[in-house]
Amino acid sequence: MLTQVSRSEEARNILIQNDRGGYTIPTAGLYPYQWNWDSAITAMGFAEFDIGRAWQELETLFSGQWADGMVPHILFHKADAGYFPGPDVWGGTGPIPSSGITQPPVAATMARLIWNKDRSAGTPRLKTLWPKLRAWHTWFLKWRLDQGAVCVTHPWEAGRDNAPDWDGVMERIDPVGVGEYERRDTSHVDGSMRPTKHDYDRYIWLVQMGNRLKWDQAKLLEENPFRIADPTMTFLLLRAHRDLLAVGEELGLQTAGMAEEIALLEKGAATLWNPELKSYDSRDAKTGLWTGCISNASYLCWLAGLDSPDQAAHLERSLERVKFGVASYDPTGEKFDSKRYWRGPTWAFMNFLIGLGLEEQQHPLAPRLRAVTREVIRQHGFAEYFDPTDGSPAGGQSFTWTAAVWLGWASKDLGAA
Ligand code: GLC
Repeated sequence: MLTQVSRSEEARNILIQNDRGGYTIPTAGLYPYQWNWDSAITAMGFAEFDIGRAWQELETLFSGQWADGMVPHILFHKADAGYFPGPDVWGGTGPIPSSGITQPPVAATMARLIWNKDRSAGTPRLKTLWPKLRAWHTWFLKWRLDQGAVCVTHPWEAGRDNAPDWDGVMERIDPVGVGEYERRDTSHVDGSMRPTKHDYDRYIWLVQMGNRLKWDQAKLLEENPFRIADPTMTFLLLRAHRDLLAVGEELGLQTAGMAEEIALLEKGAATLWNPELKSYDSRDAKTGLWTGCISNASYLCWLAGLDSPDQAAHLERSLERVKFGVASYDPTGEKFDSKRYWRGPTWAFMNFLIGLGLEEQQHPLAPRLRAVTREVIRQHGFAEYFDPTDGSPAGGQSFTWTAAVWLGWASKDLGAA
């Protein structure tokens, strides 16, 4: 078994090896491009040993920002035949080839953490980045709200690709005309750990629709059947907007209207409380129906500044049931599948985001999250995700954000800078 020190060395090497010149890929083979929230988390990892490179990661991400403010979930900097769906299937309309959807906005939160590590190095970089972050958040507020909660329009947009939250709407989609295509993910990773063909047909069908409509948000609002108010997006945007406001005030920037926007997002977050489940849940914005899922996204409430004893009771129950981290889906739920991606496995970066929120609120459950994440990585390395019942590594290996989470959070003692 490797020691903590050699794991740290390994983690730095993963970041360096997955660096493609100004941006990192999540892992070679399976994900050969720049992913949005992966990059933001990765920047935090770089900040542990190269602060300039940390800022560069965020700057490269924003080099792909569209004219309307949207920041794509994938930037296709250099073509790679090993990935599907590539730039031609997406037909992104931004300054560089990209997907047409976004991902949870954690960049402002990570930028603030990085800035706080070294303010003199960070201030000029953050001043340039700030209006871009603001434009992205404004885009969410303009196009994605449902009663103040933030919606996703594709499973990939939530970053929780095959979560059970989406099963109901995916069932209603008839992927007519999707045509023949060749999946590449299952040639890199065991198919039992990946989404099914049923899901994949619908992922591609939704992409084809966006491409056909040239990613016109007004048209998509009418045509796209997939519109789900999601705790991932809602909590993370609420948190990120709080960070952006705090930083903007300190830097003396124009923050008019932001406090009201935060109040609106707070109201939206409250609408995601499912009283029957006694948990934050996703809500189908088209039908108004709950999806009935307690997921790891439900536990992002603390990061958004919201406390809930009922939610904490679910978390405690989950941590008792599975010992190797927060399961991505309720381990007592009927759809729990310990190896299949977002239907059970534990993800180090989600444990980090949940843990950070708990730590800030000095919640009694906080130390467990850090300890358990440290242990699973110490024992099993830098996998994409882990089976939470026995800790076994799953998905892609040498994974960038798992390494970043080790460097910036999991390997450190609680309270250490
Ligand atoms: C998968 C994950 C998503 C992540 C991407 C790259 O699609 O579900 O959250 O951003 O891989 O790591």
